[in-house]
Amino acid sequence: MNARPNHAEPLVLFMPSGKRGRFPKGTTVLDAARQLGVYVESVCGGRATCGRCQIEVQEGHFAKHQISSSKQNISPPGSTEARYAEKRELPPGRRLSCSATIEGDLVIDVPQDAVINAQVVRKDADTRVIERYPAVQLCYVEVEQPDMHKPLGDLDRLKEQLRKEWGYKRLAVDFHLLSDVQNILRQENWAVTAAIHHDDEDDTAHVIALWPGLKNEAYGLACDIGSTTIAMHLVSLLSGRVVASAGAPNPQIRFGEDLMSRVSYVMMNPDGRQAMTRAVQQEVSRLIERVAVEGGVNRTDILDAVFVANPIMHHLFLGIDPTELGGAPFALAVSGAVKTRASDLRLGLNRGARLYMLPCIAGHVGADAAAVTLSEGPDRQDEMMLIVDVGTNAEIVLGNRHRVVAASSPTGPAFEGAEISSGQRAAPGAIERVRIDRETLEPRFRVIGSELWSDDPGFAEAVAETGVTGICGSGIIEAIAEMYLCGIISEDGVVDGALAARTPRIESQGRTFAYLLHEGEPRITVTQNDVRAIQLAKAALYAGIKLLMEKQEVETVDSIRFAGAFGTFIDPMYAMVLGLIPDCELEKVSAVGNAAGTGARMALLNRNHRRGIEATVRRIEKIETALEPKFQEHFVHAMALPNKVDPFPKLSLQVQLPPRKVLAEGGAEAPRRRSREKRIARRRQ
Ligand code: FES
Repeated sequence: MNARPNHAEPLVLFMPSGKRGRFPKGTTVLDAARQLGVYVESVCGGRATCGRCQIEVQEGHFAKHQISSSKQNISPPGSTEARYAEKRELPPGRRLSCSATIEGDLVIDVPQDAVINAQVVRKDADTRVIERYPAVQLCYVEVEQPDMHKPLGDLDRLKEQLRKEWGYKRLAVDFHLLSDVQNILRQENWAVTAAIHHDDEDDTAHVIALWPGLKNEAYGLACDIGSTTIAMHLVSLLSGRVVASAGAPNPQIRFGEDLMSRVSYVMMNPDGRQAMTRAVQQEVSRLIERVAVEGGVNRTDILDAVFVANPIMHHLFLGIDPTELGGAPFALAVSGAVKTRASDLRLGLNRGARLYMLPCIAGHVGADAAAVTLSEGPDRQDEMMLIVDVGTNAEIVLGNRHRVVAASSPTGPAFEGAEISSGQRAAPGAIERVRIDRETLEPRFRVIGSELWSDDPGFAEAVAETGVTGICGSGIIEAIAEMYLCGIISEDGVVDGALAARTPRIESQGRTFAYLLHEGEPRITVTQNDVRAIQLAKAALYAGIKLLMEKQEVETVDSIRFAGAFGTFIDPMYAMVLGLIPDCELEKVSAVGNAAGTGARMALLNRNHRRGIEATVRRIEKIETALEPKFQEHFVHAMALPNKVDPFPKLSLQVQLPPRKVLAEGGAEAPRRRSREKRIARRRQ
């Protein structure tokens, strides 16, 4: 029941923002939203022609908010709204907020997906709905015609109209529009749509593009430039929908597989930096063409672009020499967010299109980690969340709303299949899942491209085309974890040669032993060196995580998010068995896919997210693993499976960890091995 006295003005609550206020009857819902600072899209300025201002009335009694909302409390559709509904079709339940007026208490839902033109919408894109408040807004106006008695220029009258109707007080116009403005104004009888870029409340807004008549669609790009892959989404700025996505290998791979070899290339070759910048910008431009074609969008309708990347990719994409990032103190040329024109990077978008790059957290922790932080929001919650983005350098963020710390760990490329004797990138034919029978020590496995296990009927036929070509990152992790669970390797990672008496799968290789995973062409074994390479990588990662946990003064973490492609395929249980990550409830460990891409999309669609992540990054404490004396100690402990000193009680509830088994590798004594590990840890730092 509505307990409010009848004479009071109606109460209106907007969802999902939760903003509320009282308004006189007859106020349009759009006006009410604006007064409360709720972003409701509007291109036509309330003329009931663009259809962008759709809302829905929620019916019922909302006890928590003390509001009884009903469709009776909003005005029935007037003639303009009825005309729009007839011509363009309004989905059932939707109303145009510029026409509908408040007549009683209302709970208003602002849908974030008001699609006007039927678009191809990717089903496989991350479907997270992002509340919109984009930096680019389309504003339709009807400009006064010229008058001999008022010698104000066409452009000045356009600005005046934009100020009057849209409230832009400080407005500049991009120079490139000056030569076209008179022609555009006259094409549709002085009706034009201006694209206005206004990123920061304190900044001057800029008219960046102009079209005759009503322009009712504009797009933006969200792009993650990874060392190996570039991933791009084309997004409608007016509905938030992803209309096309594409990915491509980073062409810089030809200059160097990993980041440091690309920095070396720049240092060794006089025009190396230019060549790499050109390569990545050209590939980005090609991807833009692909998403534009797939989405049926003209490139010139793309008005905004958000990019994220690790620090070295960030610098190379912007044309900055990354040499300083090759060694301590890992100085970034710029750590804050970069705002510029897309034309500065020759991306072939609309001439006025803008570009925004998220801030970098530190010399080793880039704008991609900032985007993952924005996406997952450790700083928005109470729990202690660990985010791990595994690449050649693992980027690690740990925190909650009180404090966030970040570091990178020099894991090397082993997790990506490099440095592994049969290692390969994740591609069809690569072993990605491994199980080993505890009694017989016989393996079975699955390869990318087939759902069948190697002992299932029909497996040979299913993989006939791809073959079994090698083992990828997630496969090697499972193989080594299973070898440990079966007792094939000790907690120190030594392959037990004595088991050769039990199974021909244990093979002697000089002073060490290997495990035969697949007898075929190629023959796939897990060698002692492979185990060592994974131990070194996981020890580096875990040592970095431990440093952050110490800074936070916590013994455990509440949840773990794996970002990036590697995290998508890795089984959290095996990652924990190996001691890649600290003990945690398994159901609290999840893969978040291309969270960097999601963070980029959030920054594209809502400028408040840009301010939010800029402030968060300023607050994040950066830990430089290279300078931390305890790194080596943590590293040496983390060489053991899962760890020499840290307990894994939650993991032990899920899987039976084998009893301790101490073996000497090839006669090497443990103390000698320890001092070697310390040396490696120092080198890795
Ligand atoms: Fe354009 Fe309502 S603002 S239809």
